[in-house]
Amino acid sequence: MYNYPPGYSFFGTYKRALEAVRSPLETIQDSVRIYGDTYSVVAGLKSRMMLTQNPEFIDYILRKNQKNYYKSKWVTEKLARFIGNGLLTSNGAYWLRQRRLIQPGFHHQKIQGLHNIMKETIDEFLRGFPVDQKVDVFPLTNRLAFDVVMNTLFDVELPPAVIEELGRAIGEIQEFVIADIRQPWKSWWFELSGQVARNKEKSKRTRAILGKVMQERKSAGIKYNDLLDMLLDARYEDTGEGMSENQVLDEILILFIAGHETTGNALAWTLYLLATHPTVLHKLRDVTRGLAISETVSHPYIIAVINESMRLYPPAWAFDRVSLEDDSFGEYSYPGGTIIALFIYGLHRDEKYWEDPLSFNPDRFISDHSKDTGKVFFPFGGGPRLCIGNSFAMNEMALFLQAFVSQFDLAAAGAPPKERALITLRPDHVFLEIKTIRQ
Ligand code: HEM
Repeated sequence: MYNYPPGYSFFGTYKRALEAVRSPLETIQDSVRIYGDTYSVVAGLKSRMMLTQNPEFIDYILRKNQKNYYKSKWVTEKLARFIGNGLLTSNGAYWLRQRRLIQPGFHHQKIQGLHNIMKETIDEFLRGFPVDQKVDVFPLTNRLAFDVVMNTLFDVELPPAVIEELGRAIGEIQEFVIADIRQPWKSWWFELSGQVARNKEKSKRTRAILGKVMQERKSAGIKYNDLLDMLLDARYEDTGEGMSENQVLDEILILFIAGHETTGNALAWTLYLLATHPTVLHKLRDVTRGLAISETVSHPYIIAVINESMRLYPPAWAFDRVSLEDDSFGEYSYPGGTIIALFIYGLHRDEKYWEDPLSFNPDRFISDHSKDTGKVFFPFGGGPRLCIGNSFAMNEMALFLQAFVSQFDLAAAGAPPKERALITLRPDHVFLEIKTIRQ
């Protein structure tokens, strides 16, 4: 007998699952209020699924006993069938081999080498930024994050229409995968109605675009020294062989998806928070005025602002693991094969760990207690599967914010954004009024 955490009966699970399709964050938070920071729902005839926002349990799964936890089939099958089998979507020996091969591309020095291109991309983007009008900045920050990945990791030029198509296809695939995961009882219908096939077609088209880029690069015989070159040239330690074309394509698509959507969301939320907290905005502008690139990316206040924004709106708001063998944590015990969702959004707003959790207060990341925040703050995950692009993303966001606040003033305009918890936590829109600062 296993001792699962408390939770819902069969009918309770079904009712909550229906509610969660519409409003996942509220439904989960409500369940946490009822059962505490770890609860369970029915997952099969005899099995249950768990959800936790307990930081020690999360740390246990991601780090302390990580060997006993894989990513679930939602990621390795449902997501992978559209975005491919690569770093984000694989497990075990295959994942480790890929991680070792790709990790050097994200080494500290490599990222430093990308700073100038990041900065140029940001400056170019800000030159065309719409001012003196009400504008939804969410698609814009997404586009910027897309361009930064494109220009830094894959030094290629694509026509705007193609970039738009890539962005749209990636967004639509994501919406479909999440609908499929949230409504397992409708899987048969998604197959039958041709929705799976249509999304596979979108994925095929995306891969064809990226495949063409790869082929052109191979036949040009010019060295670019970017991540794409690195992926094409990298050799596995054990065999001395490189990746197949399909493998490289999988990894490129995954880096595109993982690398732009998360950062774009975080930037949009941060601009909204700055627009609604002028004191923080003015302080950020004052302390970062005239900083060089290397000073910007390491400035404690700018890092605190980004962290505080990702505390309130973690782009990866939840992710999951499945236990391989029977395991236990505290008073709970559960069999191998149990899916556990890690509810980062809930932990980041839990008043047990954060004073006045709903207020936007970057200073909490600078104060004396900040050393403890690492234990209750997981925007980039943790353990061996920690986000490979975390420094890349932090540097990009710091450079963007410094440039943005030095040039523009911003104020909220229109309805506040609503959270859309898909694979990432998106705002439905972020309407702002942007004004150029007269120098
Ligand atoms: C604000 C920006 C970002 C956030 C919040 C974020 C968050 C995360 C999280 C939470 C994970 C771990 C998921 C899990 O353990 O199940 C992850 C993994 C990953 N991220 Fe990021 N990410 C960001 C930016 C990036 C960027 C810029 C890239 C690449 C250019 C990237 C590439 C990846 C990849 C490839 C993985 C899988 C790593 C592995 O499993 O070995 N991410 N990210």
